[in-house]
Amino acid sequence: MITVSSNDAPSRIAFVGAGHVGATAAYAMMLRALFEEIVLIDSNVELASAEAEDLADANALARPARIWAGCYDDAASAQVAVITAGAASHGSESRLSLASRSAAIVRACATGLVDGGFTGVLIVASNPVDLMTVVAMRAAGFAPTRVIGTGTLLDTSRLKQALGDALHVAPGAIDGYVLGEHGDSEVAAFSTVRIGGQTIAQFAAGHPQPDLAALAVDVRDAGYRIITGKGYTSFGIATAIVRICEAIVRDERAVLPVSTWIDRRLGAADICLSLPCVIGSAGIERVLFPPLEPAEEAALLISANALTEALNALDR
Ligand code: LAC
Repeated sequence: MITVSSNDAPSRIAFVGAGHVGATAAYAMMLRALFEEIVLIDSNVELASAEAEDLADANALARPARIWAGCYDDAASAQVAVITAGAASHGSESRLSLASRSAAIVRACATGLVDGGFTGVLIVASNPVDLMTVVAMRAAGFAPTRVIGTGTLLDTSRLKQALGDALHVAPGAIDGYVLGEHGDSEVAAFSTVRIGGQTIAQFAAGHPQPDLAALAVDVRDAGYRIITGKGYTSFGIATAIVRICEAIVRDERAVLPVSTWIDRRLGAADICLSLPCVIGSAGIERVLFPPLEPAEEAALLISANALTEALNALDR
């Protein structure tokens, strides 16, 4: 489905960063035919041009979209811009350890977009994504509702996949969330999980109950496993970016766990972290605080404080 923007100009998305995540997300976006125009922006112009040309080769066989390597001015008329540029983690390196390296890159990307005239919804995928969402929001000077971090949408997808395998049910039939940091302090909020309105215990009654603690560790460490094997992750995060864009361009008012500014609504935490958010054409319309078990609430506060400390260190 191609979305024609309101003023009849072609609908457009801009990707800042043409690396593995940006190029894969651009490819997925083309296949979903969500935008008429896709522009790749990268300081490595040769890479952006090669990726754009390679993507354009798919055009005749896939979905019609104008795809090119451009500059920040090309993002001026984009409804959505996605920042994927940043430092990459290797092996067991934590996402938070990338913060200072990524912050300089993300700040420059957000500033470039605004200086180029971008006024749409900004999505941030660069790690550590919760801190980079704050960095981008500050640099762009955008309201928090217009800056969305991919957050734990990917972790939540991993949780549903793992629960689906354990409970022999389609992952898409599972509602529930991973909350907090997209990273080591994330919270698999099993008390939010429902399958056909049933809790996990109710659904698994009469069958072996899944080892939820082990499952949560497996989900939390998925990124590390994939990076160890292929050097980076791309397909999962790219599809998470597409899902958020879909909710925006279709004004779905979908509820997705994404990283958003919580403005001290969790203890003293002045930070972005993932909570279920209602997402429509203007970005984040509502932030939801689901009822949690006491242990989950405590873990979410620990996650918020860990991110706040990491942000304070970045600001020093
Ligand atoms: C992952 C990266 C996007 O978890 O942090 O795949």
